[in-house]
Amino acid sequence: MVGRDRGELTGLNLDDLLTRGSVIFYETQFLPSLRLRGSLDEIVLTIRRPDGSQVPVFVNAAVHTDESSKLTRFHLSVFGAGQRRLYESELLRARREFEEVAEIVRRSADGIIRLSTRGQVESWNNGAEQIFGYTAVEGKGRMLQSLFIPDAMGDTEERLRRGEEVHRETLALHRSGRSIDVSVSLTPHMEAPGTLVGFSAIIRDTTDRKRAEKALLQSEKLASAGRLASSIAHEINNPLESVTNLLYILSSRVDDPETLQYVMTAQEELARVSHIATHTLRFHKQSSNRTEVDLQALADSVLSLYRGRLQNSGIVATTDCQTSPPLLCFEGELRQVLVNLVANAYDAMRHGGKLVIRAHRSRNRKIGSEGVRLLVADNGTGMDSDVQAQLFEPFFSTKGIGGTGLGLWITKDLIAKSGGTIAVRSTTRPGRSGTVISLFFSD
Ligand SMILES: Nc1ncnc2c1ncn2[C@@H]1O[C@H](COP(=O)(O)OP(=O)(O)OP(=O)(O)O)[C@@H](O)[C@H]1O
Ligand SMILES: [Mg+2]
Repeated sequence: MVGRDRGELTGLNLDDLLTRGSVIFYETQFLPSLRLRGSLDEIVLTIRRPDGSQVPVFVNAAVHTDESSKLTRFHLSVFGAGQRRLYESELLRARREFEEVAEIVRRSADGIIRLSTRGQVESWNNGAEQIFGYTAVEGKGRMLQSLFIPDAMGDTEERLRRGEEVHRETLALHRSGRSIDVSVSLTPHMEAPGTLVGFSAIIRDTTDRKRAEKALLQSEKLASAGRLASSIAHEINNPLESVTNLLYILSSRVDDPETLQYVMTAQEELARVSHIATHTLRFHKQSSNRTEVDLQALADSVLSLYRGRLQNSGIVATTDCQTSPPLLCFEGELRQVLVNLVANAYDAMRHGGKLVIRAHRSRNRKIGSEGVRLLVADNGTGMDSDVQAQLFEPFFSTKGIGGTGLGLWITKDLIAKSGGTIAVRSTTRPGRSGTVISLFFSD
């Protein structure tokens, strides 16, 4: 340990074996306190070997006295500290590592919970605080089942007792009563074979993932609805074209004015059918150029599509767009928008009512610019706040099989493309119910 054999050591003073620092410590601290106390334990000194290397050692010291309490000699035992230092630093490193891991667990966004064998919370990290809304102190002692919707855990407990890990997708209950999509992994902690000493649960909030999955599903549904719509349009258009051509040939061969009038009416009605087929079913087809659109003419032509149906339901429809300047926009798409809005107004007034389409120059105070405002107003059923909140979502409809729920979703998209905005005011208050859809196009 000291790098010298027994022969070399004999006759050497302890000072000769120590480093300079240790010699000073030995003489000024070690010896005086040894004389005072009679013994010292595990004092660290550093030995200097002949080759210049240094070795830390522990020294135990005791004083021997004769009968008259006179000090006769010291007894020192020296043992290597290297090994022990190694253990200590190893222990320190392990402890630091443990603290780091504990810190990661504490800060994790996933809820990490330690539970007793009875399923009672023993520790609760920040992630669990976030997910459930209880602080660590409030979380402690709660039963695991109480943190999820009833029956969420099923046969979990039996499986854990058998030593199995359990994974579940379920709904956690936030303190506020709100439920949250989560995935839960439960791990049993077994000691001697077959003895459950507790378990841990890792809970991850999957709301965002679920939302993304839903959006993906919806866009897939949408894509297939789009494909279906355009294939129907295609199928309808072919026979329509032949009938149009046939009527044209017929009109050139008829002499009787009354018959000619019938043929012409048939042509007009057919033009409307093909208009509906192209504009209603191929909703994603874009017009290529913006043109100056006369809103009065557009409103009248959209209403003419609905003339018969509006009359039958006792709906009085009026337009007031003369004062509006022409609007530079994609005509086909604005027509589609008006058709959707009029269709919704019609659906909301099955027992009669008033429908107004109005356009005028106006100033939008919210965005602080001048432009054209186009209003479609009805005094139909109106919408409650729940419906209003979901209005523009694809496939949201209150009409069962009567509606696809795509009308307003497409409308919003088309208006955004034209650089416009859409706003809705609606009330279901008895006697005053109705809806005003307001479109604004800045100059
Ligand atoms: N003017 C309105 N009055 C009352 N409710 C309306 C009105 N406009 C829209 N809604 C409500 O908003 C929902 C969504 O409208 P949207 O036009 O997107 O779909 P839809 O009319 O149900 O189906 P689609 O238009 O695809 O045939 C409707 O189901 C209806 O509940
Ligand atoms: Mg609609």
